[in-house]
Amino acid sequence: MHNAHPYTFDIPETGIPTSYDNHIVRRLSAMKGQYRDTDAFNALLEQDDRILYEVYEFRRPEVSSELLHGVSIIHPGRVGDEYFMTKGHFHAVLETGEVYYCLRGRGMMVMETPEGDWSVKEFRPGGVLYVPPRWAHRSVNTSPTEDLVLFFVYPGHAGHDYRTIEQQGFRKLVVDRDGKPEVIDNPRWKQAESR
Ligand code: F6R
Ligand code: ZN
Repeated sequence: MHNAHPYTFDIPETGIPTSYDNHIVRRLSAMKGQYRDTDAFNALLEQDDRILYEVYEFRRPEVSSELLHGVSIIHPGRVGDEYFMTKGHFHAVLETGEVYYCLRGRGMMVMETPEGDWSVKEFRPGGVLYVPPRWAHRSVNTSPTEDLVLFFVYPGHAGHDYRTIEQQGFRKLVVDRDGKPEVIDNPRWKQAESR
C-alpha cells in the first residue's frame, strides 16, 4: 500500500502500469451464466479456461476521501457471437460514479440503472467516458485482435455489487454481426429478486 505521499506512474503500450499493488486475473470460468450461447461457453471452457481480462490496481483505503484507480485490460476474443467482456457491476454505494479513459483498443461500455434506463457508449483511444452514479457498467472489447486498455477512477467507498448483474444480466448485449459490433436486447434479462 502506498503511503499518503504523491506518486506517479506510467502506462506503457502494453497497458501494464509501471507500478501497482494488485493484479486481478478473471478467467472464462468466472463468467458462467453471463454469455447467452451456453454451448459455445462450455466448448471454449473445455478447451481452456482462458484469461478474459486483467485489472491492475493501486490499493488505497476504501473511504470517500480517496480515489481508487487502476487499469483494466480486456483481451480480444468471443464466446459465440458475444465479445470478451468484464463481469460488470453496480457500485454497492449506488450514488457513486466513475471515470474511464481509453488508452488503446476498441470497445463499448454497456450501462443501465435500476430504474430501467440503459446506454451503450463507444471506447476509442483518447476517449473519456463518465459513468454517473446509479449506472451499472460492463466493458466489452469489440476488436478481433487488440487489447482494450482502460484507466479508471472512482470514489474509495463505492464498493461493488456483482450479485445483481450475476442474477439478471444486462438489458443489452453487444454481439458481432459480420465483423461489426451490434447492440441487441438480452433475451434472458430478468429483474433480480432483491437488491
Ligand atoms: C471499478 C470498476 C473497474 C472494474 C474493472 C473490472 O469500480 O468499474 O475497475 O472493476 O474494469 O470489471 P469488473 O469489476 O466488473 O470485473
Ligand atoms: Zn465500477
